[in-house]
Amino acid sequence: MRLTREEKGMLAGKHGEAVQWAMDFLVKVGDYFGAANMVDVKLVNILELMGSSEKSYLELIDYLVSKKGKFRVITTTDPAGFDFTNMEGMGIEPDSYENQVKLSDGLLKMGALPTRTCTMYWAGAMPRLGDHLAISESNAVVMFNSVVGARTNYESFPSSLASALTGKTPNFGFHLGENRKGNILIELKTPMEHWTDWDVLGYYVGQKLRMYEMVPVFVNLPKMVTTYELKRLGATLATGPGTIAMYHAVGITPEAATLEQAFGGNKPKASLQVTRKELNEVCEMFSGEGKIDYVHFGCPHLHLAEIQMLAEKFRGRKKHPEVRVWLFTAPATKAMSDLAGYTRILEDAGCEFFAGACCINIPVKEMRKLFANKVQVADHLKHCYYAPTFAGDINLKTVLKPTEECVQAALTGRV
Ligand code: F3S
Repeated sequence: MRLTREEKGMLAGKHGEAVQWAMDFLVKVGDYFGAANMVDVKLVNILELMGSSEKSYLELIDYLVSKKGKFRVITTTDPAGFDFTNMEGMGIEPDSYENQVKLSDGLLKMGALPTRTCTMYWAGAMPRLGDHLAISESNAVVMFNSVVGARTNYESFPSSLASALTGKTPNFGFHLGENRKGNILIELKTPMEHWTDWDVLGYYVGQKLRMYEMVPVFVNLPKMVTTYELKRLGATLATGPGTIAMYHAVGITPEAATLEQAFGGNKPKASLQVTRKELNEVCEMFSGEGKIDYVHFGCPHLHLAEIQMLAEKFRGRKKHPEVRVWLFTAPATKAMSDLAGYTRILEDAGCEFFAGACCINIPVKEMRKLFANKVQVADHLKHCYYAPTFAGDINLKTVLKPTEECVQAALTGRV
């Protein structure tokens, strides 16, 4: 790779051993992917999940802290494995707590902002069109690439750390304009009836394409789409077999004012039409009926407007006594919800908030105790897809329903 004088100095250890480790790591990544040079990043996001607290990562954090590593750019964190202010709600045990605290403390010592959310774009991290970023949260990769027009690949835990320490990332993949052009046409042929339709649309398209290099171009999306609907679309484009990092929506996203601009001279390799039939097929994969144990909202984390709507639906009502209703959001959003009075309405109805936590990265031991042989209902498809797999086979069943039906399930204990 071609390195600047500053980057060569980093590699030679002139900026300390933490930066030297980081630049060496990034050069290896760049060489592997054929990057010609590094670019400066304006924002980094690092996973703060329990999965990232495995021994090798904790040792790496310890080493970087001992070498006085400091982050050079704004660095946000993804949700932790639990809410530090509501550990009893998940029955978190001391050993799980200790590992999470080691990981979180190390990141904070190096200068991370404890945003603890997968929706950091609503919590103080808003780049501009064309900015280069190093983001490790999949839904945020899609949001930043597509809706903001900033440029990022999916980053791993160590590569995002390395970018935070150097302010650099190798220039390949979605940092390059030629890889950001659309290559598949997606024609939406049915109205979006509720929020969960956006989850279902993203999952259907992601499953069909299954390749990181694919950049779908949507036409006929409703122009009044909100960012919390686009959050759902992006999250499920990148869920499971879907590994999409970027899409265009003609007339909506910044690099797709027209169909021609979205494709940038590319001829579409294929086109897909999405009707109600395709959406129903996806819903069928996550169907179920009968008694339930949990209702989950917020994967990715809830926007304040989603919380407001839930508060209106639960106002003056009580959840079923045998059901736990869990809401996941960013600490910053929870603080706004507290101020607005939504938290009180929802807690009076029996709902439980978990701020700064990920609903599927709860420590495995606790997850098995909470969810073995249980049934969860959720209005976010990403949760339904991943929750049954993260703690191994614990016979956890997840059912996807629109928000309104999730609320009814919370009140009646059934779907
Ligand atoms: Fe967020 Fe965890 Fe879902 S990080 S997107 S709540 S899987």
